[in-house]
Amino acid sequence: MHELKDLPAGDKAAAYAELERSLAALLAGERNFVAAAANTAALVYWSLADLNWAGFYLVEPASGDLVLGPFQGKPACVRIPIGRGVCGTAAARRETVLVRDVHAFPGHIACDSASNSEVVVPVMDGDRLIGVLDLDSPKHARFDETDARGLEALVRVFVAATR
Ligand code: SME
Repeated sequence: MHELKDLPAGDKAAAYAELERSLAALLAGERNFVAAAANTAALVYWSLADLNWAGFYLVEPASGDLVLGPFQGKPACVRIPIGRGVCGTAAARRETVLVRDVHAFPGHIACDSASNSEVVVPVMDGDRLIGVLDLDSPKHARFDETDARGLEALVRVFVAATR
């Protein structure tokens, strides 16, 4: 069993550094992609405050679309074309997209009406787009640059562990 550690309060960067160590330990010794994605989503969802959804959308090679992968939260939209919504935008740009107010984001795809802010981090293996990691929050402006950099570091740990 994996015990969730209490993260340092009040210092977000330190909390992400701790989470990075926890994720590396959690994924060590097992390269199965689905298992690693499922545990990454669960660790993020249960460690960070004020989330209502955390999980992956993965590139489906046959269609090129993003398709729902392992996640925690309510059932969600299954298929998102690249370029659509926040997830598809992050995938198309291959860069993290921070949305302080999802209702003001043109083309935002509402999967859970509780969501008010969102951050989506591309998951890349070198130059290859594997998918995205998507986090939703009921709080407005829940995510900032520290979250973006911290989540990008977690995604790097995830990709390295599944190679
Ligand atoms: N809001 C996302 C869709 C996925 S759900 O939030 C889980 C988007 O606009 O891409």
